[in-house]
Amino acid sequence: MKPTFYLTTPIYYVNDVPHIGHAYTTLAADVLARYKRLKGYDVFFLTGSDEHGQKVEKAAQAAGETPLELADRVVKRFQALWEKLGISNSDFIRTTQERHKQGVSHIFKQLMDQGDIYLGEYEDWYCTPCETFWTETQAEDGKCPDCNRPVEKLKEESYFFKMSAYGERLLAHIEANPDFIQPRTKRNEIISFLKEGLRDLSVSRTSFSWGIPVPGNERHVIYVWFDALTNYITALGYPDASGNFGTYWPVDVQLIGKDILRFHAVYWPTFLMAAGLPLPKKVFAHGWWTVEGQKMSKSLQNVVEPNMLIDKYGVDVVRYFLLREVPFGLDGDFSHASLISRINSDLANDIGNLLSRSTAMLVKYFDGALPAPGQLTELDLALKSKAETMITTVDACMDELAFSKALQAIWEVIGAGNKYIDETTPWSLAKDPANQERLATVMYCLLEVQRLIHSLVAPFMPETAHKALICLGWTAEISQHDLVWGRLAAGTMINKAEALFPRIETKE
Ligand code: MSP
Repeated sequence: MKPTFYLTTPIYYVNDVPHIGHAYTTLAADVLARYKRLKGYDVFFLTGSDEHGQKVEKAAQAAGETPLELADRVVKRFQALWEKLGISNSDFIRTTQERHKQGVSHIFKQLMDQGDIYLGEYEDWYCTPCETFWTETQAEDGKCPDCNRPVEKLKEESYFFKMSAYGERLLAHIEANPDFIQPRTKRNEIISFLKEGLRDLSVSRTSFSWGIPVPGNERHVIYVWFDALTNYITALGYPDASGNFGTYWPVDVQLIGKDILRFHAVYWPTFLMAAGLPLPKKVFAHGWWTVEGQKMSKSLQNVVEPNMLIDKYGVDVVRYFLLREVPFGLDGDFSHASLISRINSDLANDIGNLLSRSTAMLVKYFDGALPAPGQLTELDLALKSKAETMITTVDACMDELAFSKALQAIWEVIGAGNKYIDETTPWSLAKDPANQERLATVMYCLLEVQRLIHSLVAPFMPETAHKALICLGWTAEISQHDLVWGRLAAGTMINKAEALFPRIETKE
């Protein structure tokens, strides 16, 4: 039986349309999912949409729709984008689906029955025009942080989750499992937060109605984060453990942005602890993208629309750029200049040229039939050994979610391949029939190294790798057993490759 691997993205709010920030998390998850499948895992990859709560209710009011109409409309845009980006998710959960609502009611009720959720009173600052509660620190100077109008102290009946009872256990768990929260700096933030002690958490609202009702008290709807976080188990059929829930839980990796770490690294694990369920194995918080040095925002009108980028440059360029440009876990900047420079140097020049040069030579010198290699010289062995190192380095990088480093390791071998051509000069070997065997060896090494390169490029740029592998005469699925030197058989017919990536001409 294959080992399982379950990974998730956050579920996206439907009050906003997708931009590169959303695409980033989903893309990273997709690359990991594809890599794990290649490595022989039975992968379950979940994404979805977060459709309840006041934000969505308000956005719907403003648009003159019901919340569900709004959700139905916006969710299609997310799903269409994922398809266009080549996202290979196994399921898509919407929090308005019956399967989700049932699972949420079930866990909420369990926690109520065992006394971990109790009815109490919520006292905080309230902005009536905005219908929003604010904490003491948020409502600084007695003003609403949104509209700047005065706030008043208000009491509201609310259900509370006994989060305070789980803080120490969670802290102990984090300390005993150094890889649970990553990257390390984020882990430290959560540890400091927990050391201050946890308060009980308000987990219901009465000020609006767009949500899942509290079991047995329909005046309350369940707090949107309690509802949303539970998607990671309801999508697996929780509480029924006979199917996916039994197979895939606990989740192996949860990918999120740094802004929602506390929900995933504090609230969520304490809910799970209370429910007696195992905790996620890893939560990884990535950084945020700015655009040309500025925060991405609707008011600045600088929101980068992935659809537009894909139409202009192609899906693999977008996939490559977002994962190569910034080490996963750090903040990064999106700029057109750096995008173009990556296209022209990494893609057109390095990987594209290597393939077109070498396949053209093979067609010219061997009529497209891959020759068997002779004895490998030191130069050939060095290339082979670089390819082998690449395979182990990429594997280690993927385990650490170091996508950019993995790509760097692949590009080192691409560089070595281009250098190998310059050093072996096949065009001069071809001039003398006495060099035929040497030429055969050189050409074999050149094509075999690219089979390995493109096998590892595949999770990042599936279309490109597919095109390249077909040119290289490799039509089988890529499997981990083929991640060894020498699998490309002599006699395989090789096609001359078209340029994989056209250069983008820019005016100085
Ligand atoms: N609905 C919640 C998540 C619930 S998960 C149980 C939510 N949704 S969101 O649509 O606002 O954001 C989803 C993800 O997009 C988050 O991981 C967030 O970090 C990411 N990003 C939003 N803007 C971003 C950037 N500018 N850069 C990188 N990622 C960003 O939060």
